[in-house]
Order: sequence, then C-alpha cells, then structure tokens
Amino acid sequence: MSLDNETQDRTQSVPNELESHWIPFTPNREFKKAPRLVSSADGMYYTTPDSRRILDATAGLWCVNAGHCRKPIVEAIQTAAGTLDYAPHFQFGHPSSFKLASEISMSAPEGLDYVFFGNSGSEAVDSALKMALAYQRAIGEGTRTRFIGRERGYHGVGFGGISVGGMVANRKQFATQLPNVDHLRATYSHEHQAFTKGQPEWGAHLAEDLERLVALHDASTIAAVIVEPMAGSTGVLPPPKGYLERLREIASKHGILLIFDEVICGFGRLGASFAAERFGVTPDLITFAKGVTSGTVPLSGVIAHKMVYESMMEGPEHLPEFLHGYTYSAHPLGVAAGLATIKLYRDEGLYQRAAELEPLFADAVHSLKDAPGVTDIRTLGLAGAIDLESREGAPGERAFDAMRYAFHELDIMIRITGDTIALSPPLIVSEDEIGVITDKVRNIIGKVS
Ligand SMILES: Cc1ncc(COP(=O)(O)O)c(C=O)c1O
Repeated sequence: MSLDNETQDRTQSVPNELESHWIPFTPNREFKKAPRLVSSADGMYYTTPDSRRILDATAGLWCVNAGHCRKPIVEAIQTAAGTLDYAPHFQFGHPSSFKLASEISMSAPEGLDYVFFGNSGSEAVDSALKMALAYQRAIGEGTRTRFIGRERGYHGVGFGGISVGGMVANRKQFATQLPNVDHLRATYSHEHQAFTKGQPEWGAHLAEDLERLVALHDASTIAAVIVEPMAGSTGVLPPPKGYLERLREIASKHGILLIFDEVICGFGRLGASFAAERFGVTPDLITFAKGVTSGTVPLSGVIAHKMVYESMMEGPEHLPEFLHGYTYSAHPLGVAAGLATIKLYRDEGLYQRAAELEPLFADAVHSLKDAPGVTDIRTLGLAGAIDLESREGAPGERAFDAMRYAFHELDIMIRITGDTIALSPPLIVSEDEIGVITDKVRNIIGKVS
C-alpha cells in the first residue's frame, strides 16, 4: 500500500477497537456502542467514515469560526510544520509569535497590549488567575488572594477553572478546589428574560453582587473577578444590558481586576474581535482560545493590560519576571495557524458577516418558540440556545436523544448542555444554511417531544 493509501485508510476507516480511548465529557459506554465519528471536513460540513455529509451547526466545539479545512490556514500549518517544527519559548523564541501577539493586541481594546500564550482555554484561565495574583502582589496588595467567579460560568477544567466556574456537575466528582473563591449569582432568570433576542433588559442589578461580596470579604482580600461576557457552555446567557458596565465600575472602585473569559466570545462569535469591543467594556485581562486558530491547532492566551505587565517588569534582569509558561506556549504550528486565521477573518470580513447575519439568525432560531416542549430561546451574535423541558426524573436525556437523532438520522451536528440545544455555526454559514439548521432542529425537537 502506498503512503497515500495508507493515510487515506487510516483517516477513513472505522477502527475495530474503540475501547482504549477514554473520551472526554462523553458517556463512554453509550458512545462506543453507536459512535458518532467524523473523518474529514470541508467548509460547513463534516464527512463520516461511511460518507455521510454532516452539517456543522456548532463550529466543532465553538471554535471552527472560519469553516473547516480552509486552504490558507491549512497551507500555513503545512509550511510551518516543514520549516520550524518546534522552538522553545523559555529563554528562546521564534519571530512569528511576536507578530501574532502584536496582531492580537492591536485588535483588543486600548491598553490590552501584552499577549501571553498557552494551548487551551483552561490554561488561559489558569494563566490569567495567576497573573492576577502576581499583579496584586507586585503592587503591594499581596493579601488579595480571593477570586470571584459566577454561577453558571464555565472556565475550563483546571483546578482554577472549576473553582471559579459555576457548574456543579464539573466539580462534585473532585472534592478539592482552590480555597478563597466566591461567586456572583448567574444573570439568567426565566421569569424576567424568557425568549429575549440579544441582551435582556432585566438583570443589570445583579452586578451589585460584587459590592455584596466586597462587603462580606473586604476588598483587600479579592484579587480578581472572572466572567464570560456571554456565558456559552451553560447555554448562551447574554449579559443583561448595563451589567458588564456596572461590574467594571465596581471592580475598578475596589482595585479588583476584571477578567473577561472570551474563549467562546472572542474572534467573531459576537460579531466583533472581542465581546469587550462589542459591549464597549474594557477588562484588565482577556482569555482567548478556540477561534484564534479556527480550531485547527491548539493555541490560547491571555491579553493583559499594560499595567499588569509593567507591574512585574522589576528585579534583576537575568531572572524571569513571571514564573509561568508551557512547553508548547506559542508553538510554531499554532502561531502559523493563528496568523493565517486572523488574516482570513480580515480578508473575508467574517466578524462583520456575523454581525450582519445576527438578526436573521435570531429570527430563525426564535421561530422555534412554538415547537413542542421549548421553554426558552436565547440568541446573541451567531450563538443560540433552545431549552427543552426535561423528562420526568431524567434530566438531560431529551437533549441527549436529540443530539443522537440529529447526527445519525438528520446529518447535523448540534451541541447539548443539560436539556439545552446550543447552536454556533461557523461564521461562513449562509442564509440558506441557517434555514436548513432551523428546519432540522424543529424536526429533531418534534422527534424527541
Ligand atoms: C469560556 C470558556 N473558558 C474556558 C474553556 C476551556 O477551554 P479548553 O476546553 O480549551 O480548555 C471553555 C471551553 O469551552 C470556555 O467556553
């Protein structure tokens, strides 16, 4: 067999043995009985090993914002792999990471001038939390060791992320967490917000929770507050109007750093480079991942305000100022993918496209309001969520059935969380494809009702 045939064989065939791979965030036993496998991808579609084309209504996992296997990105990765396979970033470096850092900082709000690279969203979150602690210590506020997260927040799976996150299911298996963490209440209220397109009117007052926690713990103990501007993984919860602005005011008043976790929001999902830009609110640190390379190569990072960076540029010049980093920070393949992806977003105006499609997408998703068992629908940018009534005694089962039926019978990939269906198509989605997604989801909801 030629190498090409071998490669083809390896990517196309269904493995005989599925047991060894312990699959993340997936019921392994069920999956291995009826696997949902994809073996290639192009544009808006995946292809299964048995040659079915699957419409990708989730951009992979909220990351493939430019669409699949886009030529300029693929070629950039291929070239990088054959030119510089790896370069250490502890004490050494390679030129393109500096270029990417300056591109990213130029698209971030003013003052967010420094980019620290990691590989996953979870690493970006841990890096941001550590930066916040190191900053407070550097400016003589070393008693500030507490973090404030938010209920229904998702910040990845590191111990930092699960501690500030607000998804109980992700924590209860692992009793240990970071100490000194408290949470704001979630901004979602079915009673006050159900079926809102975009930002709800109700809920800005919930930012006052930060004042309450300052009164409880004292500002001198709090390093940072971290929120997703729009909570994604817990079901697309857009921020109430005025909420982020108020959070910014309270954090500034008390010397608390504000971290926006933009792992989902960044790179076009909300029709702008970052949610910070869309909402006109500037945090002190932004975490990013996913869309920066359109999911092609793992790359993540933190964009830090210059005051955070500058606070640490002290001490003997032969010693590192921030004792943190990863072997694969700014890996040449990730950086090449990032540069090519950002260029493609710019060349094709994809953030603008997402902004222009937002009303049509919102109308299409909200048209499912009358489908059986739908209890709420929320949309923002090119993200939408449809809550389904849970089955008696079996939370999550209805949406799980929906996802399986969608993949096996209707050739569409949807994302689920609890009994919520989440939609976040690549930003290249056409108006017709938005219609197809909505029709299929209506069919799916009918099937599982
Ligand atoms: C807001 C947010 N933060 C962090 C993460 C974790 O990213 P990763 O899975 O790359 O570690 C995610 C993943 O969905 C996320 O949505």
